[in-house]
Amino acid sequence: MTVALAHPNVALAKYWGKRERPGNFPAVPSLSVTLDAMTTTTSVEVDRSLERDVVSIDGKTVKDEEAARVIDLLDRVRAAAGVTHRARVTSSSDFPASSGLASSASGFAALAVAATHEMGLDWSDERVSDLARRGSASAARSVFGGWVELRAGNSHGPESEVLGALSLAPRDALDVRVLVCVVTEDRKPASSRDGMVRTMERSPYYAAWLDTAPKLFDAMKAALAARDTERLFELAERSCLAMHASAMGAGVVYMRDVTRDVWGCIEAMRRRGHLVFATSDAGPHVKALVTSRDASTVRAELASVPGVLRVIDSGIGEGARIA
Ligand code: PMV
Repeated sequence: MTVALAHPNVALAKYWGKRERPGNFPAVPSLSVTLDAMTTTTSVEVDRSLERDVVSIDGKTVKDEEAARVIDLLDRVRAAAGVTHRARVTSSSDFPASSGLASSASGFAALAVAATHEMGLDWSDERVSDLARRGSASAARSVFGGWVELRAGNSHGPESEVLGALSLAPRDALDVRVLVCVVTEDRKPASSRDGMVRTMERSPYYAAWLDTAPKLFDAMKAALAARDTERLFELAERSCLAMHASAMGAGVVYMRDVTRDVWGCIEAMRRRGHLVFATSDAGPHVKALVTSRDASTVRAELASVPGVLRVIDSGIGEGARIA
């Protein structure tokens, strides 16, 4: 049996939308930071006595679409390793799954590391990241620690084309903390996968998003290289708003009243001189971007917003690894 762990990541330059070719290739580049305060632990055990793969997530055996993505990843690893036996996969996270807190990112990153190791493949991080990306594109980034880039996929090419994330800067490149405001333990209404498909099919603003996202990504990469924290945060907020605007154009709404209340609180703190910006993913939670100077003051204020269940104060994490 092999046990691996991985952390979720938060994209400052968001990924939203896929290339229209098989293989789960993102339509835009993204830039993220890996979060050390939340962890998914996944074990993979090849078992000759099993007739089919058994997948359990947070104590429940999963089936259908959720299990299919895990089994697809196992099939790829089996084909590369020449293994025919089935496996038992057990995964658990210390934060709410499928509610927009990136459990699929840490989940598929940990699974890719555990499965390749369990089946004897000595793959580079880039190949492991490519494998994780096929389960969930954001998972490609959680294979790495610190500041991470995932390029957009090419418009055409074979399904087997390798696209892994890559490390842009180490964990300590910038003094950044991410305050994760958890506002619900529920599952999100529309998965990021479905939300993206609807956005691509129906949103009049999807074309604008495809035009804007790479420009924001380039500007963020430059801000990171210049170690300009404020500019990076400000651009991250813009990327998030542009992503949600494109999704909303298709009726895909992840933000709730409490989400907007937290954003309002962050704007008010900024007016009072705190360096704090907001970002939200495919769910109602808010991640406040701060430096350690402001972290405790901002955290206390965010925790007092009605509807905020708790605030997780996260530093920058390492990549996925064998436990
Ligand atoms: O990788 P997925 O399918 O879970 O999609 C992630 C989408 C966002 O979290 C909203 C943005 C991102 O880049 O992580």
